[in-house]
Amino acid sequence: METYLAEWMHIGLRWLHLVTAITWVGSSFYFNRIDRSFRPPEPPIDRVSGHLWSIHGGSIYNYRRYPLGPGFVPGQLKWSKWESMGTWVSGALLLAVIYWWGASVNLLSGSSPLSPASAIGISAVSIVASWFIYDALCKAIANDRILIVVLTIFFGASVWGFSQLFSGKAAYLHTGIAMGTIMAGNVWFVILPGQRRMLKAIDDGTIDDFDVGADAKRRNFHANYLTLPVLFAMIGAHFPITYGHDYGWLAFILISAAGVSIRHFFNTMHAGEAKFGYIALGAAFILATMLLIAPKHLFSERSVSAETVDLARVERIRTERCTPCHAENPTFEGFDEAPKGVTFENLAKMSLLAANIDQQVVLTDTMPPGNLTEMTEKERAVIGEWIAQGAPAE
Ligand code: HEC
Repeated sequence: METYLAEWMHIGLRWLHLVTAITWVGSSFYFNRIDRSFRPPEPPIDRVSGHLWSIHGGSIYNYRRYPLGPGFVPGQLKWSKWESMGTWVSGALLLAVIYWWGASVNLLSGSSPLSPASAIGISAVSIVASWFIYDALCKAIANDRILIVVLTIFFGASVWGFSQLFSGKAAYLHTGIAMGTIMAGNVWFVILPGQRRMLKAIDDGTIDDFDVGADAKRRNFHANYLTLPVLFAMIGAHFPITYGHDYGWLAFILISAAGVSIRHFFNTMHAGEAKFGYIALGAAFILATMLLIAPKHLFSERSVSAETVDLARVERIRTERCTPCHAENPTFEGFDEAPKGVTFENLAKMSLLAANIDQQVVLTDTMPPGNLTEMTEKERAVIGEWIAQGAPAE
């Protein structure tokens, strides 16, 4: 009963998180695109710095940008704020349901130096700390270039540090959460207060002296470039070939660099001077990542030992290390049903999923999660040998 309800909570939160994130990223991309597409109106219009015609869904739209407002506070003013709040809150709840509730399975790896309780504590503290560290860095470093270098090091160190403490997928996820928290924090603690000050200045008639400040501008800029890395963090956490690799943290940094580069291409395109070189640069980062984490046997034949693998041994590994969870009626505490519906009643069933098992058990050690059934390196090698010999069932 409890696991069944937890599954529904999981489905509901994930759905909500996806929808709110789409609205947030969508409106952010949309405004960014409009903003970079604006051209000065011809003939000039009072207080308007940019102008754009657009067509969508059977109507033609006319946008104008008033950097300091139209001279009055519009009666009907649409704000963008609940998208970020909805995404952050649904994400935080999802984190609690999946990674805190299931800490030993999802948060910890087999080699984590932490207990579940201390891992949860570090997870929670890291989220809050990411905002305060970022905010302090923005305030302390006036030079934009230096700030970007420092922030890159900060995120790189985060994913490396998390991967020393947590499971690979939790390391990806927590780095993504740090970025998302920073983006949401920027909206609520910097951008919205700035906008309220702006409206007040319009009301007070002091708007012509108003300056949103360099800080607000660069935070918008950071959010723009963090979007693709955050989205990669979220989906990358579902792919053991990335997070499960020893250099998974480096793969994360390289793919994030690809994301930043691709985002930059779109920014140049919206501004009317597309620089395709940035797409090529992004592709080069992805290619470098593919080479970095390619499994060894990709470029050379996998060596197969002359001796036929001992099936009784494989069978023992199956029942001792896998079927406590992957069975019709799991015996492992906390599992009411086979995870992802994957059951291994016999070797024939395992053989069907050999490629997947190779990925999760031999090439990476993502299975068993947190190495909860204490599989040895020797046993992983036996499974590898069994797969190399064609994963025979008998
Ligand atoms: C402690 C419980 C547990 C044990 C023991 C365990 N698994 Fe898993 N397994 C899981 C969970 C949980 C998932 C789902 C992971 C996810 O959602 O990312 C999973 C997913 C998988 C998948 C991926 C299914 C898919 O298509 O995504 C494979 C393959 C797999 N396990 C193989 C194994 C093998 C082989 C063993 C034994 C060496 C094993 N597992 C031991 C809990 C376990």
